[in-house]
Amino acid sequence: MEKLIINGGRPLFGDIDINGAKNAAVAIIPAAIMASEGICVIDNIPDIEDVNCIERIVENLGCTVKRTKNSLVIDSTLLNKFSACTEDVRKMRASYYLIGALLGRFKEARVELPGGCPIGVRPIDQHIKGFEALGAKVKIEHGSVIVKAEKLIGANVFFDVVSVGATINVMLAATLAEGVTILENPAREPHVVDVANFLNSMGANIKGAGTDVIRITGVDKLKGCNYSVIPDQIEAGTYMIAAAACGGEVAIKNVIPKHLESISAKLTEMGAEVIEEDDAVIVKSKGRLKGVNIKTSPYPGFPTDVQQPMCTLLAIAEGRSIINESIWESRFKHVDELKKMGASVKVEGRTAIIDGVNKLTGAVVKATDLRAGAAMVIAGLIAEGKTEIENIEHIDRGYPNIESKFKQLGASIMRETCEE
Ligand code: EPZ
Repeated sequence: MEKLIINGGRPLFGDIDINGAKNAAVAIIPAAIMASEGICVIDNIPDIEDVNCIERIVENLGCTVKRTKNSLVIDSTLLNKFSACTEDVRKMRASYYLIGALLGRFKEARVELPGGCPIGVRPIDQHIKGFEALGAKVKIEHGSVIVKAEKLIGANVFFDVVSVGATINVMLAATLAEGVTILENPAREPHVVDVANFLNSMGANIKGAGTDVIRITGVDKLKGCNYSVIPDQIEAGTYMIAAAACGGEVAIKNVIPKHLESISAKLTEMGAEVIEEDDAVIVKSKGRLKGVNIKTSPYPGFPTDVQQPMCTLLAIAEGRSIINESIWESRFKHVDELKKMGASVKVEGRTAIIDGVNKLTGAVVKATDLRAGAAMVIAGLIAEGKTEIENIEHIDRGYPNIESKFKQLGASIMRETCEE
């Protein structure tokens, strides 16, 4: 067990590099197992626990995986298992991408139901609807999703809700179906586009990812390729918010500024300065920022995955701010922890009403989930005195080297081993 110790109150200055996107990498790795010829060499892989977990899962299925610091080499040519039922599969959300990947390649899959952050009900009905439209029979037995098809045939799928997972999962299966699949009302997140680009590099024929309609013309097989994962929009957003909260000037490098527009716009509305460069954003902030209202929504809207870090910033902004969390029903678990540090936040259903306070004060708090953990790190950085954050295994699932990156910016933050 480890914890983070932060002595708050220092402004942040300097620059940091953003790593590859977690939510792209954890979909691209399952997609790579669809290659029946050649090997996939995937660069810009973030060094995080969720990647380690999906890497173990695909190895367990029979793929050969070699890891260097930032890249993965996956050979799935000898893969012949279509059943993934291990603790790792149960632990993480993205393991559900194995259903689409294995269904596409073998027309059959058995995958245990996924875990992930406790942020509300996480149904997979839209994934199932898509698989069934392609001709698969789907049942859930003994905690596993079992899918089987004589053959997959392209179909029209209209998603009832905008779902990143369902869009990617059905896209995976449809890539190796016969004929054309049209996905309507798909998610348009940058990582959806990245997975489509990766599949196209493997020989797939996917058009329209990132728009309202995705058209997939099935191909007979996929082969290995070389690919580099896009920068992490959410990691970048978290550091932008941290810079705005602590004050100072931080250049966040190796990003795609367009992916960050909704976050840049909110920080600007609050009174911070955000300068966009070709592959960097610079956030400058001094003095107290103004409170704003936020509604999370699918891309290009304000991402739910930075709502929790943003809540910390709003906790010390001037005046009242209101957050409406429209994606997840229970994504305010960080609020009780923030209150221990002096924040004034009231949660009513999916709404948080935040009355900005002058300062937060250090306390012993915990990371209740991944992004709640990032919210607590930012809280520790701005708080007066010492903050100890427990349960940081959640943070390690998605943020590479978080303490060294913040140290590089001048923060006083260190990791300590603690007794259970
Ligand atoms: C992905 O989760 C991300 N996870 C989440 O990031 C992120 O919060 C979410 O997309 C939204 O952007 C990964 O990519 C691994 P969804 P996913 O399907 O795909 C409802 C993080 O912090 N829904 O887009 O599971 C669902 O209940 C994590 O990195 C259905 O009703 O999310 C939710 O309200 C947390 N039926 C909404 O859609 C379905 O079949 C969006 O969910 C599927 C989803």
